[in-house]
Amino acid sequence: MNDHPLPDAVAALFPEMPDRNRIEEWLTGELQQALQRLKAGPVVPTIDMAAFRAELESFDFDKPRPLEELLGWTIARMQHGIVQMANPRYFGLFNPGPNFPAQCADRISSLFNPQLASSASSPVPVELERQVIRAIARRAAMGEGATGHFATGGSESNYTSLLCALTAAHPGFASEGVRAFAGPVKFYTSRDCHIAWLKIAHQAGVGRSALRLVDTDGRGRMDPDALLRAIAEDRAGGAVPVMIVATAGTTGAGMIDPLQACAGIAQQEGLWYHVDAAWGGAALASNRLRQALAGMERADSITIDAHKWLATTMGCAVFLTRHAHLLSEAFHASTSFMPSSVSGVDPYLNSVQWSRRFLGLRLFLALASAGWQGLGAHVDRSTAVADRIKERLLALGWTIANDSVLAVLDAVPPAGFGDVRTLVRRVVASGRAWVAPTTFEGRDVVRICVTNGETTLADVDALIAVLNERDARL
Ligand SMILES: Cc1ncc(COP(=O)(O)O)c(C=O)c1O
Repeated sequence: MNDHPLPDAVAALFPEMPDRNRIEEWLTGELQQALQRLKAGPVVPTIDMAAFRAELESFDFDKPRPLEELLGWTIARMQHGIVQMANPRYFGLFNPGPNFPAQCADRISSLFNPQLASSASSPVPVELERQVIRAIARRAAMGEGATGHFATGGSESNYTSLLCALTAAHPGFASEGVRAFAGPVKFYTSRDCHIAWLKIAHQAGVGRSALRLVDTDGRGRMDPDALLRAIAEDRAGGAVPVMIVATAGTTGAGMIDPLQACAGIAQQEGLWYHVDAAWGGAALASNRLRQALAGMERADSITIDAHKWLATTMGCAVFLTRHAHLLSEAFHASTSFMPSSVSGVDPYLNSVQWSRRFLGLRLFLALASAGWQGLGAHVDRSTAVADRIKERLLALGWTIANDSVLAVLDAVPPAGFGDVRTLVRRVVASGRAWVAPTTFEGRDVVRICVTNGETTLADVDALIAVLNERDARL
């Protein structure tokens, strides 16, 4: 028996408690100061990337450096090296300034590092996530039998919906894959969908040509007649339709597809009905807006990203379905090394992932501390900010191409501003605000989306000022 003492734990990786406490306290202070600086500073990266690459090259991993020095270095580089989502003048893609309860959740998850694959390893986290999922499903009026799980993002959640649809469509899919179907598989969404659906088709093995991009109605919403025609055409050609995806809050324009009509067509055609509410699903929190999602409750499955408008840290998506057994069918596995294998409960038996982070705590802490009314007020505040932007732009002769009830404006400048993409490049390069160029119903527009819960009227005015500066050369 060897009773010699074991080597000490590696102090750089597992510091003693006093060192840990000192660094934690220092880090908390540094991060709060960085937050103040980044809110007031430029929205875009200002770092010299050539110098940064050279700096990285010079890292010698055979010569360890003190952690505090590295933490300070990392914060400084982050300060200058990213588009700042937490800056209140970021009117960008759906990346939020993260809410504080979700940030606290990340600290807690990082300390305990629970393994959420199995309910035996993590009974409390698994049950807590189930409770949050039930609360969201109830809010979405999906019925008491609805279930689901947390995913890394809208793309994973949407991918899950396609796997469920395929599993539901043919009992042979599980073992034979698409070879089980009598013809090529098809699924349908509007041409204004999030284009990750093409990657999803690829990953799922149905091929990118399985995705039919249905025409919109001139206002950015899926045209139900065009949808019916596409399905009929495909059936006549020997293809096998499996799923309709309606988007509740399109990425470019925040438009909500006709959810009731799409539900009716899915029912009539015997197809899986998925609603991609990755961003717009947050409207459920708002008593003023939730009516806009009527018809979503008829879905077989729904995607809602909490890391978009509900402002949790990334990535935190919710997948909901009324067909618990299909999740178990699509993701079942059997092995002796896992601490539990409770079909219908263990996340690794009901979702794409195996080892999993405690994602649901982010939404739990936000929802439990703010309540539905707090999340609703956050959503309503964003639309109030969008209204102020709209009012100011209209007064300056701009027009708004979309008529979304959500917090996104597709703005068109008056004559004399030159082309939209050059204008957006100028705004972004100024670092004073961040907006995106996109196309809405064939027209180039400036996409202005309210994603930050702390944007003030002064920030709105700063945005308007930079948008409305004419290029002197025009
Ligand atoms: C409507 C819609 N669906 C899906 C996604 C993809 O979500 P994620 O980036 O979380 O994977 C997005 C992202 O913006 C989206 O807007």
